[in-house]
Amino acid sequence: MPENSPSADNLPVHDSHLPHKSLLEQAQQRLIVALDVPTAAAALTLVDRLEGQCPWLKVGLELFISAGPSIVETLVSRGHSIFLDLKLHDIPNTVASAVRTATSLNVRMLTVHAAGGPAMLAAAREAAAGSAMPPELLAVTVLTSMNQSEVTAVGVARSPQQQVELLARMGLESGIRGFVCSPQEVAALRTLAGPAGVLVTPGIRPAGADAGDQQRIATPAQALQQGASYLVVGRPITQAAHPAQAARNVLDEIAGALVQK
Ligand code: C5P
Repeated sequence: MPENSPSADNLPVHDSHLPHKSLLEQAQQRLIVALDVPTAAAALTLVDRLEGQCPWLKVGLELFISAGPSIVETLVSRGHSIFLDLKLHDIPNTVASAVRTATSLNVRMLTVHAAGGPAMLAAAREAAAGSAMPPELLAVTVLTSMNQSEVTAVGVARSPQQQVELLARMGLESGIRGFVCSPQEVAALRTLAGPAGVLVTPGIRPAGADAGDQQRIATPAQALQQGASYLVVGRPITQAAHPAQAARNVLDEIAGALVQK
């Protein structure tokens, strides 16, 4: 690990309420902080304010469009594991080329939309698998911001849960084992995908936090208990007055849930 990479050793000594280090490290490996900020400078400031507690970071559309691949390279060079959340959705050839280009950035996770269909998913999987450092390819099922009326509005006659399960089955048949879903569907997806499934859940809100535009939400502990592999948390940490403290609270809750599992 590079010298400046985040680890439990960077934590301030006054964290006596935190569980044993190795448990904390396990919790750190389950939390992905969404860097939903407009510029590279804002992203790096936010990373500094997390005080080395969050090795996993998510770079999404806003930051990637503004700052480009160089922000990913900078964060990787600082020892972070990067989830590049571009939610690719295009014809198979275009998505495969984009996946190939993205893998050259040494990201650990990359998203495509499951709704792109079996041929697109298979092309994306092959492109990812062919790279020197294959990322975990995640298929986004139904956005966590969509409730029943949103799903109906785009012409889907099923419930969000049924649509998530249909897309996951299709993804599994296309050789994908990683999925993004809401915490409310994660138990069903764990059953479908089995222990090898990599299930990533946004829509995480610690008790009392503002839901914002998210509809299908759960607390960190609930999501883990339902079978999530990784939790994506954005605003409850990034817009907190003290992001490091907010992250620490979520890590505490994750650690507590891991003990109970
Ligand atoms: O701020 P908040 O915790 O709601 O951030 C959630 C993050 O997860 C955002 O970056 C959003 O783009 C992402 N996401 C999501 N729902 C999905 C896939 C990704 O909310 N299905």
